[in-house]
Amino acid sequence: MNTSAWRPEMLYEHLLHGPRFQILDVRSAEEFAAWHVEGREPIPTVNVPYFEFLDLDTDEDVVKAVLKSAPQTLLPRLDADIPILVVCPHGHTSDLVAEGLRQLGRDAANLDGGMAAWGDHYHVETVAEEAGLRILQISRPARGCLSHLLVSEGAAAVIDPLRHVSIYLDTAQRHGARVTHVLDTHMHADHLSGGVGLAKQTDTAYHLHPYDAIHPMDLLPARYGFEFLRDGQQFRIGRADVRVLHIPGHTLGEVAFLVNERWLLAGDSIFIESVARPDLGGHPEQWTPLFRQSLQRLLALPDETVLLPAHFSNAREGDPQGRFMAALRELRTRNEGLALATGDEAAFTRFILASLPTFPPGYVEIKRVNAGLTSADERKASELELGKNVCALASRTAD
Ligand SMILES: [Fe+2]
Repeated sequence: MNTSAWRPEMLYEHLLHGPRFQILDVRSAEEFAAWHVEGREPIPTVNVPYFEFLDLDTDEDVVKAVLKSAPQTLLPRLDADIPILVVCPHGHTSDLVAEGLRQLGRDAANLDGGMAAWGDHYHVETVAEEAGLRILQISRPARGCLSHLLVSEGAAAVIDPLRHVSIYLDTAQRHGARVTHVLDTHMHADHLSGGVGLAKQTDTAYHLHPYDAIHPMDLLPARYGFEFLRDGQQFRIGRADVRVLHIPGHTLGEVAFLVNERWLLAGDSIFIESVARPDLGGHPEQWTPLFRQSLQRLLALPDETVLLPAHFSNAREGDPQGRFMAALRELRTRNEGLALATGDEAAFTRFILASLPTFPPGYVEIKRVNAGLTSADERKASELELGKNVCALASRTAD
């Protein structure tokens, strides 16, 4: 390892392309279980909470404490032949642990900024390039959130902007474009949308389907101005055509954007290996048949249509470059939820209801913030967004 600190972009680079490394996560077992660093390939990881090898009453100098205790507590659990990345919530304790390990002759680095910085890391990849159109996928790899920027002839549309909106402004500018449209496929439950803020900053309208401008639990209308999206509506972004498809199910106002009749920005409906969950509005039995019809509508699109989803659950759903995309042709057979959507309604409903992951209680509050019913400062926003999204059905094949 050639440096004693890795920025999140360096971690992401290693997760995608190696070389091999191991992680020593010194957070509590609860924090670790809730969320930890994952890659396309399994990363050798050990969780040893720092309070297990530091005596908080007597150890004032963490580095010295590591030098004293690591030979018994840490080193036997670590692979001697590969570098160690030490991880904690904000990168402070882990920095000292890494320093101690280095003094013991081990190749160790700190994750700079810890899990908080990793959670806020964004990555940009071009996923489509054709005459007069470029589509960039802007991901937050630690959370499994995907957003998209369409650029055409100096104009840019942002679809599903995530919370830190400067990435969209910077990326649009780098591609010689100005943000002219801000669109959400639905009212998100897993993350705070950057939509309203980005529209304000760029002096453009924020677009949402009106059904999703009502909080599904509180039954209160959103407290901000927005432009109604409707089924069949067409936008022109530079030379690119965007068609709106209303596909209720995950939410009642869920829409997909079909770009140049080929690129399907499908929000939370079809994912690469799974489908979205229709229970986050609190009515899974009632919404599942709607969801099935919407999936059937998307499946009626041509085989060459390329899905660009709003989430992934597992980094392996992406290609080696970290791009999350797949042709419908491939998904029809590979994706169990999609295959079932074309069959018997009762079997589909049984499958969906049996595959619903636990309802994260924080999602109700995130929707309140996204509806403008309440606000979140930076600390609350980070708390609400902690961990990976759970917008997809639970995978029945995952271990
Ligand atoms: Fe969602």
